[in-house]
Amino acid sequence: MHTSAPPRFEDAVLRDGDLQLDALTVLDAPRIAEACNDPQTQRWLPLPTPYSHDDALFYVNQMAHHSLDSGDGIERAIRLDGDFVGVIGLKETSRAAAKTEAGYWLAPWGRGQGVMTRALRLLTDWALDTQGIGRVEAHVAPENGASLGVARRAGFIEEGLMRRAGFTHAGPTDLVLFSRLADDPRP
Ligand SMILES: CC(C)(COP(=O)(O)OP(=O)(O)OC[C@H]1O[C@@H](n2cnc3c(N)ncnc32)[C@H](O)[C@@H]1OP(=O)(O)O)[C@@H](O)C(=O)NCCC(=O)NCCS
Repeated sequence: MHTSAPPRFEDAVLRDGDLQLDALTVLDAPRIAEACNDPQTQRWLPLPTPYSHDDALFYVNQMAHHSLDSGDGIERAIRLDGDFVGVIGLKETSRAAAKTEAGYWLAPWGRGQGVMTRALRLLTDWALDTQGIGRVEAHVAPENGASLGVARRAGFIEEGLMRRAGFTHAGPTDLVLFSRLADDPRP
């Protein structure tokens, strides 16, 4: 029986000036663990608590590879002048619908500089322009003002509220549905 590999994202390095999105490595694990234990990261993302160095290694060595190999998405380190400052990725990709969903976090030392706005634009433009994707979604809790700001500044259009569609450690949460389409005006 012939089985063809699933369509998958290109294992690409994306650059915009001092910003680079590339593959995670085991050398990133200590800083991933530090950032994922930050209270703001834990507030909005249902990550293991506490988040151990082994959790970070599992993410880098298993989850990120599985995402790419299965066609589900892609995980990229965000580097500013070469220094690791956070993670951005795509997940829940449907090739039939040509759609995917962006997710992201910044380490505390990467925040407040507009890095995630640039990273989200860069990854979204790449997916829409070169990876056969027609729609990129972002799902953000209505109380997560920092992330709402990122989605809006990156040119995402607010479509409505998905009631109790997500969860944090505090329990189920509503999610604001954002999207950018391939033919939307560029931010
Ligand atoms: C969501 C998150 C990534 C946003 O980080 P952020 O630093 O606020 O986002 P940006 O990188 O776009 O930076 C915006 C900030 O930089 C400032 N800034 C400076 N230069 C800027 C520029 N050229 N362009 C845009 N913003 C700029 C903005 O004023 C803003 O600061 P302010 O909030 O004090 O006004 C971060 O809060 C985080 O990791 N939170 C925890 C995890 C999380 O919530 N993930 C998202 C789940 S949906």
